[in-house]
This record gives sequence, C-alpha cells and structure tokens, in this order.
Amino acid sequence: MFTAYAQDPAVTRYLMWRPHANIAETEAVIDRFLTAWERQEGFCWFLFTNDTDEMIGSIAARPENNGFNLGFLLACPHWGNGYMPEAIGAVVEWAFTEPWVSRVSAACDIENYSSARALEKAGFVRERILHEFLVHPNISSAPRNCFEYTITRSL
Ligand SMILES: CC(C)(COP(=O)(O)OP(=O)(O)OC[C@H]1O[C@@H](n2cnc3c(N)ncnc32)[C@H](O)[C@@H]1OP(=O)(O)O)[C@@H](O)C(=O)NCCC(=O)NCCS
Repeated sequence: MFTAYAQDPAVTRYLMWRPHANIAETEAVIDRFLTAWERQEGFCWFLFTNDTDEMIGSIAARPENNGFNLGFLLACPHWGNGYMPEAIGAVVEWAFTEPWVSRVSAACDIENYSSARALEKAGFVRERILHEFLVHPNISSAPRNCFEYTITRSL
C-alpha cells in the first residue's frame, strides 16, 4: 500500500489525507481499517489484479443514514482501465444485500473529473453540490465544494 500509492501526491491530490511520509503511517492506517471492520464501523477492501496479484488500490464503505458512503483510490499506473467502476459496482451489490440499505453515496471534489466519471460509469447519479464540504489538504486548508453522487436500490 505504501509503495503502490499511499506516498504518491498524484493519488492523494483530492483525498482528505496527505501522502504518507513513511511506512509506519501506512501501518497505522491498516490497523484502523482492521479495528473499524471488527466494530462494523467501516469496511475497506484492497484491490488486486487478476493476472499478477499486484495490490493496486482500495475501496471503503462507511455506514451512514440508510446506507453507505464510499471512498476509493487506485495506483496511477492502473488509472483508465475501468477497474474502479467495476469495484464500485461490486461494493454496491454487496451493500444492497443488506435489507436496511436503500442508498449508497460518494462525495468527490468538483474538480475530480476522474472520480466523477468512475461513479457515473458505475451507475451513480450526481444529486447536488455540497458547498464547502470537505477539506482536501493537498490543495488548500479551506473546505471545498464537492459533488454528491448516489445510487439507490429503486433506481
Ligand atoms: C478516481 C479513480 C479511482 C478512477 O478509477 P479508474 O479505474 O481509473 O476509472 P476509469 O478507468 O473508469 O476512468 C475514469 C475517468 O478517469 C479519467 N482517466 C482515464 N485514464 C486516466 C489517466 N491515465 N490519468 C488521469 N485520468 C484518467 C477519464 O476521464 C476516465 O473517464 P472516461 O472513461 O469517461 O474517459 C482514479 O482516477 C484514482 O484513483 N484517482 C485518485 C484517487 C481519487 O481521487 N479517488 C477518489 C476520491 S473521491
């Protein structure tokens, strides 16, 4: 995870965390993923290629009202292959196996065109602009406008 993407400023540009400076930071994040999963407070999957078994990214689902909110990323060399729409689709399918889930959402910076496209290709609909919603510290310390994307069970 550290080598593949966690230290890469191109990957983290529109994320809520700065590139990791060392592997200890990455290990601490993995510990938090494991704890969150045990407590059912968040679910993070690592993504691997079928052919080489290389770890290329991750996708996480956090419970929120009536469903889950998604976060996701891929190592740069694997952008543009349609991997994330496929992963998003798989997580949405998993989410809707839970009877209480009626919607899955994701927020992306309004300048993060690649993320918006990945969500649209996975069937998500752009619902609204969330004004001054998330701080993306690699851009600035001010909260930034984001698009909210959703997919609902009844769509
Ligand atoms: C967002 C992200 C996960 C998309 O995953 P992906 O598997 O590359 O998605 P796709 O292959 O469907 O490509 C989506 C769009 O990315 C853009 N794209 C494609 N190749 C690209 C490349 N090499 N470099 C930059 N953008 C590219 C295209 O606009 C594409 O849309 P299109 O298919 O309509 O042309 C990936 O770009 C990424 O990890 N970005 C950094 C982390 C991030 O911003 N995560 C989302 C936070 S909300």
